[in-house]
Amino acid sequence: MLKTVSAFDRIGEENAFAVLARATALAAAGRDIINLGIGQPDFLTPAHIVEAAIKALRDGHHGYTPAVGILPLREAVAANLERRFAINVSPGNVLIVPGGKVTMFMAILMFGEPGVDILYPDPGFPIYRSMIEFTGARPIPVPIRERNAFAFSADETLSLITPQTRLLILNSPANPTGGVTPKAEIERLVAGLEHHPKVAVLSDEIYDQMLYDGETHQCLLGFPSIRDRVILLNGWSKTYAMTGWRVGYSVWPDALYELARKLAVNCYSCVNAPAQWAAIAALTGPQDGISKMVAEFDARRKVVVAGLNGLPGVSCATPKGAFYALPNIMGTGWKAKALASALLEETGVAIVGGPDFGVLGEGYVRLSYANSTPNIVQALARMGEFLASRKAA
Ligand SMILES: Cc1ncc(COP(=O)(O)O)c(C=O)c1O
Repeated sequence: MLKTVSAFDRIGEENAFAVLARATALAAAGRDIINLGIGQPDFLTPAHIVEAAIKALRDGHHGYTPAVGILPLREAVAANLERRFAINVSPGNVLIVPGGKVTMFMAILMFGEPGVDILYPDPGFPIYRSMIEFTGARPIPVPIRERNAFAFSADETLSLITPQTRLLILNSPANPTGGVTPKAEIERLVAGLEHHPKVAVLSDEIYDQMLYDGETHQCLLGFPSIRDRVILLNGWSKTYAMTGWRVGYSVWPDALYELARKLAVNCYSCVNAPAQWAAIAALTGPQDGISKMVAEFDARRKVVVAGLNGLPGVSCATPKGAFYALPNIMGTGWKAKALASALLEETGVAIVGGPDFGVLGEGYVRLSYANSTPNIVQALARMGEFLASRKAA
């Protein structure tokens, strides 16, 4: 029997991938499946980005790049942050990584160890907790409440900080709630964090351009008083429909950048070169693909929210960002995971149970509206028939 480290007894998973695998298997067996489970845009990467990758391959970009990423890409990231938020970032603090997830992996590895507390949103992206547990640190959930429109509460977050707290993970716009934390609340949180100079902040802003109803994004790098301990997580996966390209970026304070670079060298050497050239084209080329995609998501969002609110026992808050809805299903009598599983097996509609995003996810399910409006309408109809005819298991 091979003996691996005990940390693997504690590592978790992202159940949305298991739902995707089951939905794919059912579809392969001939079932008519509507997938509202997975969190990736149902759009193709814009053509000019694809062309840039092809050109890079034709131009001979086949070798290793610097571990931190090619300079023109890091410059493009810095220019993009300057243009969108008037934030000055040196390309020397930008790290190109194989997907946004890698930034959270690195940051949690850097701060997590036994005896340390790490704060993370619950419900939230499941990898935060999984990686915190892997390092042996104590995961401290920050409750993200429906009655607070799924925003972070500054006061509640600050009240959870202890002398053991080393890292606070924020995410707005958020997965799985679609919640957006308002500017005033972020300012209050930042003001409070000024009294906790030993707490680093990982700000997961991967959905920063997916906002509705006139919401604007607050990049955490824009707050000078905590700037020296903010790690920004962002990337191309969602904004440019590039989930499969595996390219993301992080911005690290000087004190941490070298450590992140060393992790990159030890783990993956560099991000594949053509994806980096494609990422430059994404940032420097036409941006209208984003607004078209967001307008389409916005239209679907309205269909999803109205449809869900018409289902028996279901109520759905209106998400302000990302492309997820997290309806409250407590009135149906179903447990969330049992409902998600029964819906997939019996009606072919794939969704994810709220508990896959944390203990506070019980009573909720997540629908991704990265699917066509006709499919969404059909899925809602199937859910309605199911809830009207089946007693809770
Ligand atoms: C909140 C959040 N952060 C990060 C990621 C990871 O993105 P990537 O696919 O670029 O690794 C996701 C993907 O679903 C996400 O929802």
